[in-house]
Amino acid sequence: MTSQPDQPTSEPAMRASMAISSVTGNTASIAQAVRSAAEEAGWTINDVVGPNPPDDVVIVCFWCRKSTLDPKSLKFVESCSGKRILLFGTMGGCPVGAYADRVRANVTSKVCERNECLGVFLCQGKVNPERIEMRRNLPESDPHHLDDRGLARLTEGLNHPDATDMANARAFALDYLH
Ligand SMILES: Cc1cc2nc3c(=O)[nH]c(=O)nc-3n(C[C@H](O)[C@H](O)[C@H](O)COP(=O)(O)O)c2cc1C
Repeated sequence: MTSQPDQPTSEPAMRASMAISSVTGNTASIAQAVRSAAEEAGWTINDVVGPNPPDDVVIVCFWCRKSTLDPKSLKFVESCSGKRILLFGTMGGCPVGAYADRVRANVTSKVCERNECLGVFLCQGKVNPERIEMRRNLPESDPHHLDDRGLARLTEGLNHPDATDMANARAFALDYLH
């Protein structure tokens, strides 16, 4: 019996680079959930060690600042070219609604300058109580002043990211990684 010649394969390489920016740990915990979901599904996840990493797929885990990517993530995304980028962000604002749509649009347009955006997952992260207090004490005329609704949102945010956010991030990763 003769052996079959190797069939050409069009299977994608299941390898991705992961960049994480996290100051107070919210984004780091989402990144860990995403990494374990991807690895359980057979992906190899490589930590980003420099600009424009070699893998075609790049996972960027960022925290939201000024309604877009934090400065470190911005710089990293600007270093990438021709990548397929999937993003996971944590934010103080509500991750569903008009403000989150604006954040998602800002992030997507930045990524799409030189790359393809596979998707942007957002969930709430706890905001440092000192920052909440500082914003609460700003004059009402200041755009960063926290009204009662904002205070309620950030107080609720102190419970996030929670187990549901982790499960949602895992499901999002498995849905969008291809
Ligand atoms: C200086 C600063 C600016 C922030 N700006 C925003 C913002 O524009 N929109 C928002 O929704 N959250 C904002 N946040 C909240 C953070 O995005 C949120 O706490 C995030 O989960 C922090 O992630 P980390 O724990 O991984 O550092 C800001 C927080 C800080 C400290």
